[in-house]
Amino acid sequence: MREQKSLRRETDKAMNTEIIKIDINNIDKEKIAHCAEVIRKGGLVCFPTETVYGLGASAFNADAVNNIFKAKGRPADNPLIVHISDYKMLELVTDCDGIQRDILDKLADEFWPGPLTLIAHRDDAVPANVSCGLDTVGIRFPSHPIAQALIEAAGVPIAAPSANLSGRPSPTRGAHVIEDMMGRVDIIIDGGNCEVGVESTVFDIAGEQMSILRPGAVTLEQISTVVESADELDWMKPHDNATEKPRSPGLKYRHYAPKATVKICDGEPSAVVSHILSEIKKAKNEGYSCGVLATDESFCYYKEDNVVVLSLGSLQDSLEQASNLFHCLRRFDDMGVNMVFAEALPKGGTGDAVMNRLYRAAGGNIFTV
Ligand code: TXA
Ligand code: MG
Repeated sequence: MREQKSLRRETDKAMNTEIIKIDINNIDKEKIAHCAEVIRKGGLVCFPTETVYGLGASAFNADAVNNIFKAKGRPADNPLIVHISDYKMLELVTDCDGIQRDILDKLADEFWPGPLTLIAHRDDAVPANVSCGLDTVGIRFPSHPIAQALIEAAGVPIAAPSANLSGRPSPTRGAHVIEDMMGRVDIIIDGGNCEVGVESTVFDIAGEQMSILRPGAVTLEQISTVVESADELDWMKPHDNATEKPRSPGLKYRHYAPKATVKICDGEPSAVVSHILSEIKKAKNEGYSCGVLATDESFCYYKEDNVVVLSLGSLQDSLEQASNLFHCLRRFDDMGVNMVFAEALPKGGTGDAVMNRLYRAAGGNIFTV
């Protein structure tokens, strides 16, 4: 199954990127076979998953994996997730037994296919650069039918980070991937909008303490029904301290960020609105082009000249907020906004994942009124 060659040429010239539309409800097998062939030959294929789009290559081809890092401009110490489409592939990429094996099976039973990535011991069949030299590997069995069909047809697990340029908001629509990856990959599969909208929950079962490293649609409460002692990393704690080795290398980067500066305001709803309105006045005077990330409930309070107001959806509906977040952040960029004021959102359930992404888009800039 190992392949050594890679399709990507070592040149600065832009690649020819094929855009292939595939209907999630009527998957064209010939198109999938063509994309799978490109994966097997060492090429790069962007594909939809239920969370966000991925930028994929054969997880057994170290050169192709290297090209993922180049195409994204991804730091060389931020490991990739390996996507599988059946449990035989799980055996090929992981090497674990005892309690870890038991927990892996139970969690897989309960939450796969779906938006949960498990960090377990890596089998040597997976080249070290997939995990940036760690002895663990992140594995996910996505539920999206196009992702499943692609992995199955390729016959190899697919290593894939989110298909955005490093530091940009993750792509949740075909158009977002085209914006970031045109000329950098062989194929972009446009399979419509991603349902969940935030990346998978990352749960580490390889360490002594089993912890959620990145919140997502599968919550601590749900995981705790299977693993009693599970906990969650405090993601509001800064992780870029050179003396501390972060458990999830991805945590130290300012991710999910639009080009604009983002400031979050937390507090009682009416106080938040008045604070943001007064901040807008100041920012406008300083020459900023302002935007507000609001909810359906607060949207009407920000009727100001020359301010772009976008709603994430209902304040009570964190699933809706998750599916709109990255699209809204990209729209601010499209509209030339360079200062975004965002309302803090209710935590709990998927709300934690939404606030985590917002917090990191803001580089930790949160103000309580
Ligand atoms: O929903 C998702 O997870 C999407 C889709 C495409 O599957 N993928 C995704 O990949 O978000 P990426 O590369 O953008 O984020 C992977 C996260 C990073 O924070 C990385 O540090 C962490 O998972 N990760 C991967 N392997 C790891 C490992 N062995 N140990 C600790 N953290 C790991
Ligand atoms: Mg990412």
